[in-house]
Amino acid sequence: MFESRAAVFTDAGHPVSIETLALDVPQPGEVLVRMTSSGVCHSDLHVRDGHWERPGPIVLGHEGAGIVEAVGEGINPELIGRPVALTWYAPCLTCRNCQLGRQWICTGSPALGHAMTDGTTRLTRPDGSPVLSYLSIGTMASRQVVPAAAVVPLPDGVPPEVAALIGCGVSTGVGAVIKTAAVPAGATVAVIGLGGVGLSCVMGAKIAGASRIIVVDVNRQKIELAGELGATHWVHAAKDDPKGVVDGIRAAAGNGGPDFVFEAIGLPETISQAVAALPPGGTACLVGLTRYGQSASFEAFPFVDGGRRIIGSNYGSAVAAVDFPRYAEMYLQGRLPIEKLIDRRLDLAELEDAFDRLRAGQAARQMVVFED
Ligand code: APR
Ligand code: ZN
Repeated sequence: MFESRAAVFTDAGHPVSIETLALDVPQPGEVLVRMTSSGVCHSDLHVRDGHWERPGPIVLGHEGAGIVEAVGEGINPELIGRPVALTWYAPCLTCRNCQLGRQWICTGSPALGHAMTDGTTRLTRPDGSPVLSYLSIGTMASRQVVPAAAVVPLPDGVPPEVAALIGCGVSTGVGAVIKTAAVPAGATVAVIGLGGVGLSCVMGAKIAGASRIIVVDVNRQKIELAGELGATHWVHAAKDDPKGVVDGIRAAAGNGGPDFVFEAIGLPETISQAVAALPPGGTACLVGLTRYGQSASFEAFPFVDGGRRIIGSNYGSAVAAVDFPRYAEMYLQGRLPIEKLIDRRLDLAELEDAFDRLRAGQAARQMVVFED
């Protein structure tokens, strides 16, 4: 038995509690990870605020990295001591989508049950009651047992925080641009919303060789940060002037609008803006996740008449075992300045304050640091 200090979500709309839980040893096919870093992503906040219903009690966090401390039966013991990034969508490798190479839409992932592959959990409260782990990895915990398929070893020299960010925001944003939308060199790209995910879209657009990268946010500081990551043009959005935002994007892009627009917030109004800003032949790539049940609208005639496209991008079409090490290499070469996304380091005890900042749209990426 091990101990784990973890951020536990129990009821929607209520603060998470920081609890000391008992952690069982890894079972066959599982890995015990001592966490080194966990990012505070908007998806955790969606759960915390009840926008997405999740069963409690559950340890939050899905953007994490750590060091392997122990392995269960059937797992190579050479993994012990290796720094790893965690994927929040451990693939089952047997469903149709996995066999088609589309692990990001795996239908058999243990992540769907927020537990281990056999549906049970390794975490318990002092009274013996089980605690789930968000997306099977629940990274806001000093230690975790995760399915082996969630663990991706990274090359030496990658800092824990960078590894954690590769686990969600970076793969989601960079991958949306270079994998899902496969933006060709020279294309014009707009990115709406500059949190960790949108800023990663900007880095992806730079890597893709976009000729113009237009960034849109209500927060000026985010726009400045995006400039450091490769943005060439910006639109300071006013929430009450959606037409002004669309006109601003089109003017900045030239040629009637950007070839690609990435929506990285998940609001119906900004999704509509993304589609409205497209020129004929343009593509809107939806990256931000909305609350459940929400719809966005667009005018149908010009959409069809102009041969426009809308695509959804989940997890940047990531095949974690292949893509995480690739993004890590690009970081080590200086082509993905991932560390620039980080604007705060915190202890688990400060998580609610970090959620407040994220809710207010003030944070880029805030990272929980684990001292052990
Ligand atoms: N117009 C322009 N920008 C806006 C608007 C708006 N109407 N409303 C909010 N924003 C900006 C905020 O200022 C912030 O910079 O959108 C950004 C959102 O960033 P975060 O809250 O940090 O979100 P992030 O963690 O990047 O996730 C974005 O992707 O994976 C999903 O669930 C996640 O839906 C979320 C989205
Ligand atoms: Zn995330």
